[in-house]
Order: sequence, then structure tokens, then C-alpha cells
Amino acid sequence: MTKIVVLPGDGIGPEVAGEAVACLKMVSEFRGLGFDFESHDFGGVAIDRHGEPLPEATLAACRGAVAILMGAVGGPRWDKAAVRPEAGLLGLRQALGLFANLRPARVIKGLESFSPLKTELAAGADVLVVRELTGGLYFGEKKEGDDSASDLCTYTRGEIERIAHVAFAAARARRAKVTSVDKANVLATSRLWRRTVEAVAARYPDVALDHLYVDAAAMALVTGPARFDVILTENLFGDILSDELSVISGSIGLLGSSSRGADGPGLYEPIHGSAPDIAGQDVANPAGAIASAAMLLDDLGLSDEASGLTESLEQVLLDGCRTRDLGGKAGCREFGARVRQALADRLGKAPAEALESNRDCHE
Ligand code: NAD
Ligand code: IPM
Ligand code: MN
Repeated sequence: MTKIVVLPGDGIGPEVAGEAVACLKMVSEFRGLGFDFESHDFGGVAIDRHGEPLPEATLAACRGAVAILMGAVGGPRWDKAAVRPEAGLLGLRQALGLFANLRPARVIKGLESFSPLKTELAAGADVLVVRELTGGLYFGEKKEGDDSASDLCTYTRGEIERIAHVAFAAARARRAKVTSVDKANVLATSRLWRRTVEAVAARYPDVALDHLYVDAAAMALVTGPARFDVILTENLFGDILSDELSVISGSIGLLGSSSRGADGPGLYEPIHGSAPDIAGQDVANPAGAIASAAMLLDDLGLSDEASGLTESLEQVLLDGCRTRDLGGKAGCREFGARVRQALADRLGKAPAEALESNRDCHE
């Protein structure tokens, strides 16, 4: 059996993860892959049940899995908790050494109108954000007093080198261009970042490199997203720019991501949060979670199945089935079921139950 750990989490996390798991189940049943799904408490729900966001049993299960599929964590209920749900996510990324976070965003041909940008600006945008995930401000020493607080930003050359290699290797399989985003006019860590990225670039003479300051990059993304291929950047900048980029492609609900380390299981999650404002209403867009499931399949070497799922997702959107964030009326379950119908056509004949949502993992 191939164990896949599911971490539904909080808010809309269980809703969107349920649809993605149902897609993976369908692929497994059609192809006889023997995926075995195991759901674990994580985030706010784990605080409620076990007093901590990343219980030992959840971490142990993750370590023993071939891949981890996550929904989202967090919510106002836990904002004042001693340890927040988000700390569980940071702890999981750190414990598994998941330093490379890949967030692809694309304006799908024919769906340019999803973008708030003018069609001629949005058309053709196809960007991969390679975000460093286990360093920088997120993981530096923190001090929090009543009258002052600080977060230390540190990066080592080794941390920058390994994420730069990921970006250059990814660019080779795309349009061979890396834009490194930093704030080297102000930050020492950014100057080390820029020097190190330039040194790594020398080993990829076939890949073009340019640099942008993060403020200019934020602007360039809305004035001409099609100029970018791979964006390589540190933890916090990658977090912010990927939310911006998601909306350029239509909605934060569309983007999936993968997080990988040197070895061990990858973590696959939509880039959005738990969206407490729409949780429990069956209106969340599960596309980002489903796109993450496709990235999971790809990383397991199932590239045909991965592209089958991605194509199904895009087909359903092109056919006009859209959730509320994209101006449509489809529910989360309905959208997921439509994707699985399209997937069944691509994979062969569907076992009837494979079309259903997979909500038992969190109910
Ligand atoms: P959010 O991404 O949850 O929501 C931002 C806005 O986007 C909201 O209006 C929401 O309704 C909408 N949205 C998000 N995902 C959507 C989807 N799939 N379909 C339709 N609309 C969607 O960000 P937030 O409100 O800043 O954060 C809420 C909580 O989620 C916080 O506790 C935050 O820390 C947490 N968070 C978790 C993750 C994660 O688990 N990876 C990521 C981001 C934020
Ligand atoms: C994300 C989220 C997380 C991050 C939070 C919830 C810790 O915003 O995955 O993009 O900042 O990395
Ligand atoms: Mn984020």
C-alpha cells in the first residue's frame, strides 16, 4: 500500500481537501495504485482535541507517508491560543526539511477574463514561484515584549544555494529564465542572496537570470506578468507575491503548491488559508487543492495521471463550471464532482463511488 496522509485542517480545509482526495482515490482505483489514505488531526482541530497543532502521532504518520495532502489551518477561534494552528504548519515544514515551495500560476487560455488585469496584460502569464520555505524571518529568533518585539532574518549561503538550484533546474524545463527577487538595496540577507544566486547561475549558462527588488517585482507582476518565468525568492517575499499572483490568474482558490526537502515525503497544499468567512457553506473553490493533488501525482512519477487531472480541472473551468470566487454558482462538491467526471472520461470507465466526494476523512 502507498500511504498518503491527509491533513484536512480547519475552515474550508476539510471541504477542499475532501474533493482533492476523491480525485486521488479515483486515479488510484482506475490505475490499481493501492493508495491508502490516512487522515490526521492538524492545526486548530488538533489544538482542540490534543492541545497542540502538530501532535506527535500526526508528525510520525507524516514521516511514514509517501506524500502528505493538506487543506488549510487557522481561524479566529485560535488567534489567542498559546500556540497557534499556523505554528503547526511551520513546525511540519521544518521537521520534514521542506525547504522548496513551488507555486505555479497560469492565466489559462480562454479564461483571461478571470483576471482583474486587462486581457492583453494577463494573456500568456505563466509563472512558477520558487519560494524558500524553512528560513528567513519565519524561523529566526523572535522576541515579543509589551513595548518592543523583533524577528531575526537569517540566511546561510547553503540555504540559498539549494533553493537556487531548484529554481534553475525548474527553469530549464520551462522557458529558461529566473528572476531573483530580493531587497538587496536595504537588507544584508538579500545581498548574500543576490551574490549566492549569481554564483549558482554560473552553473546554468543556458538559463537567463535577472534581479528585481521586491517592491518593483510587486509592481511588475501587475503591469506585465507575462515577462516572468521562474521567480526565485525568500520565504516572506514568496508568501506575499504568490497571493498577488494567484489573483492575477483569477482567484487565490486556483493555486496549488508542493513543498519538498532533500528526501522524504512532499507536502501538497493549496496556497490559500482556511477562509473562515466562507467555511461550511460549500462555496469554496477546491481547484487549488485539486491542483496540489496533481502535483503530488507528478512527484510520485505519475505524470500522465497528473496531466489528466490538470486537464480535467481546466476543462471544467473552460466549460463554465465555476465557484463563487470566479463569479459562478457551482458549489465546492459540485465542482469536484465535475472534475472527476472529466477525469473518468480521461482515465476510462469510472467506478460509481469514485465520483462522490470524499468527506469521510474529516467527518
Ligand atoms: P485566506 O486565504 O483564508 O482568505 C483570504 C480571502 O480569500 C477570503 O476572502 C477567502 O474567503 C478567500 N478564499 C481563500 N481561499 C478560497 C477558496 N478556496 N475559494 C474561495 N475563496 C477563497 O486568508 P486569511 O483570511 O488571511 O486567513 C485565514 C486563516 O487562514 C488565518 O488563520 C491564516 O493564518 C490561515 N492561513 C493558512 C494557510 C495554510 O494553511 N496554508 C494559508 C494562508 C492563511
Ligand atoms: C502559506 C501561509 C503560511 C505561510 C502561514 C499560514 C504560516 O500563508 O502557506 O502561504 O505564511 O507560509
Ligand atoms: Mn500565504
